[in-house]
Amino acid sequence: MRAGSNVKLCTKVLIRNQHTYQGSGVSYMPPKPENGATHSSLSPAQQAYLERVIRVDQAGELGADLIYAGQYLALSHNKKVKPIIKHMWEQEIHHRSTFNKLQSEHRVRPSILTPLWKAGAFGLGFATGFMNKEAAMACTEAVETVIGKHYNSQLRVLSNNFADLKDSNDKFSNSKEIEHLKGTIKVFRDQELEHLNTAIQNDSKNARPYWLLTETIKTVCKSAVFVAERI
Ligand SMILES: [Fe+2]
Ligand SMILES: [Fe+2]
Repeated sequence: MRAGSNVKLCTKVLIRNQHTYQGSGVSYMPPKPENGATHSSLSPAQQAYLERVIRVDQAGELGADLIYAGQYLALSHNKKVKPIIKHMWEQEIHHRSTFNKLQSEHRVRPSILTPLWKAGAFGLGFATGFMNKEAAMACTEAVETVIGKHYNSQLRVLSNNFADLKDSNDKFSNSKEIEHLKGTIKVFRDQELEHLNTAIQNDSKNARPYWLLTETIKTVCKSAVFVAERI
């Protein structure tokens, strides 16, 4: 490769490395690819971020599974709402098992607070379902609002900070591993947003006290995401 091409290449790499990520309240400095890298291996910083994504998403999907389990149990007498909750619950079971698989493939340790997430999520689902259908739907609205934004934030980082140098035309692209993860998160994000719409269509806004309930649950979810990313 000629000297001019090398300078052009290095400049592009440096420019790409100057982006920073502000997600979930954490500054994330993107990794620096090795000069001349043409492969898709991840740097230590990328690997650390990837592990964090898998850990928090596995914990989150586990929580979602148990929230719907609690709601289903508490509202098992309600023939109209039961199938609606069951449909969302089944999708969450699939989300959870997908991240369980990713967790073992990438050898990512689970959040050490997993027992707390389990108890808290089931308790939240059961308590809101026990209040009434509207409260259960308000819970779903709050949770899926937070999780939809959370997944979007991850997608931005995976798109912007995980491209490797691909070819001599200076085209950048993600590795297959990252593309697969992004595809999975996109599908799940869309399903979470469907759950959000379902909750609104099923009278989440009629829950009382709506504002207190949804804002409290959003704060709890955001706090759980913050903690599960780290421990
Ligand atoms: Fe989910
Ligand atoms: Fe969901």
